[in-house]
Amino acid sequence: MSAQAVPRFAMKAFARRGDTLARLMITPSGSSDPYPLIEDLRARGRLTMSSIAWASADHELCRTILRDNRWGVHAIESFEIPHPLRRFAQRTPLPPNPVEPPSMLVIDPPDHTRMRRPVAAAFTPRAIARLRERVASVTEELLAELPAGGSADLVTAYASQVPIAIISEILGFPRSSLPLFLEWGDAMSPLLDMGLPWRTYRHAMKSMRVMDGYLDDHIARLRREPGEDILSSLVRAGELDDRELKATASLLMGAGFETTVNLISNGVVQLLAHPAQLARLREEPELWPNAVEEILRIDAPVQTTARVALSDGVELEGISFRKGHTVVLSLAGANRDPKMFEDPTRFDVARPNAKDHLTFSSGIHVCLGASLARMEGVYALRSLFDRFPNLQRAGRPERRPLFTLHGYSRLPVLLGERATQPAEGLGVS
Ligand code: HEM
Repeated sequence: MSAQAVPRFAMKAFARRGDTLARLMITPSGSSDPYPLIEDLRARGRLTMSSIAWASADHELCRTILRDNRWGVHAIESFEIPHPLRRFAQRTPLPPNPVEPPSMLVIDPPDHTRMRRPVAAAFTPRAIARLRERVASVTEELLAELPAGGSADLVTAYASQVPIAIISEILGFPRSSLPLFLEWGDAMSPLLDMGLPWRTYRHAMKSMRVMDGYLDDHIARLRREPGEDILSSLVRAGELDDRELKATASLLMGAGFETTVNLISNGVVQLLAHPAQLARLREEPELWPNAVEEILRIDAPVQTTARVALSDGVELEGISFRKGHTVVLSLAGANRDPKMFEDPTRFDVARPNAKDHLTFSSGIHVCLGASLARMEGVYALRSLFDRFPNLQRAGRPERRPLFTLHGYSRLPVLLGERATQPAEGLGVS
C-alpha cells in the first residue's frame, strides 16, 4: 500500500481550509494539545463527514462500529490517492510489517481468526507468569540504576526500558539487540499515521527492510534452538508460515512497545500534575489498577483507529455507506464522552467506570496484550513512585510528533532521595 506516504499535500490543503480531522491528523501532537480539536469533532455530531473520511468521537457509536462485522479493517488505504502515486507505491512491495496484511491488525475474518488464534493461545498462563516475574525484576533493576538525588529523562531511562525488556522476552531476542529495537520502533511508529513527510516514510521503509533481515535470521535460529518464549512456541506450533510469523513478530514488537512506553510516561505526567491523586494512591494502594485505567482513559496512548464498510448499503445513523467508506474512530474522544464519563476531563484515580474506556479498542481486534500492558503499567508506575516518593518534573516534557500514538519523547525529572522500603507486594495479578 504505502498510503501513509502519499496524501500529505492533500491533508495540508484540507487542514488549511479548516477541516477538523485533517487539522488533527496533520498537527503533530508534539506542538499542540489534540483535545480541543477532538472536542470540535464531537461538537459536530455523533458522526461527522470531513474531507478525508467520516469521523466519530462518540463512545456508544465507536463501540458499536468496532463490534459490528459489517465494518472491517482491510483496505483502509482506500482514501483518495492520486493514481500515478498509487501505482508507484504498488511497485515497491514491502517486507511483512505491522500495518499490512498478513498482520492480524489489518485483516478481516476468516484470515484474521486464523492469524489471531495461535498468538492468543501462545499467551498461556505460564507465559504470562514468566512475564510478570520479568516485569518485577526489570523494574527493580532499572530503579536501582536511577541516580537518586539526581535528574533523569524518564522516557529513556525507564518508561521505554520496561516494555522493551518484556517484548524481547516474548520474542526471545538476545539482550544485545535491544538498541536496534529502539531504533526500529522510533523509525516505524509514524507508519500508523497518514500524511507522513516523504523523508520520514523512506526512513521507516529502510528500517523495515533491516528488521526483516534480522527476523529471518532470528526465526531460523529459533527453529534450530527454540526457547521458552512466545515466538518460539509459535514457530513450534507450525500454524503460521514465515511471512506470517514475521508479520506477527513485528506487530508484537510495535504494538507491545510503542504503546506501553506511552502509558508509563503519560501516567507519570498525570500523577505529577495531580498530587492529591498521588497522595490518595499512597493511602489506598489497592486503587493502583484503577488508576492505570484512568490514565489509559484520560490520555490514551493509542488515540484513533478506523473501520471500513465491507459492502455497499451498510446503514448507520440514517446513512447508507458504500463499500470502502471509512470512519475514523477517535478512541481518545470516546474516552472523554460526557455521556459516558461524568466530568470527563477530571483525572480521578477512583472513577468507578474508568475501565469502560476504548483505549484497547473493542470487538475482534481488541488488544491482545491488554492484560500484559495493564500489569506493566501498574508495576512500573507504582514501584517508581514507591522508590522515589519525591519525584518532580524538571522542565517541560516533550510530546512525540505523532497522531495515532500519543506519548512523550522526553520527560525530564528530579528523582529525589530513594526510599528504602522494597517495592514488593504490589498486589498485581
Ligand atoms: C498501553 C498499551 C497498549 C495499548 C493502548 C494498545 C492498544 C491497542 C489497540 C487500540 C488495538 C486495536 C486497534 C484496532 O482495533 O484497530 C490493539 C491491538 C493489538 N495489540 Fe495492543 N495495545 C497495548 C499494548 C499491547 C501489548 C503489550 C501487546 C503485546 C505484547 C499488544 C498486542 C496487540 C496485538 C497483537 C493487537 C492486534 C489484535 C488484532 O488485530 O486482533 N498490545 N492494541
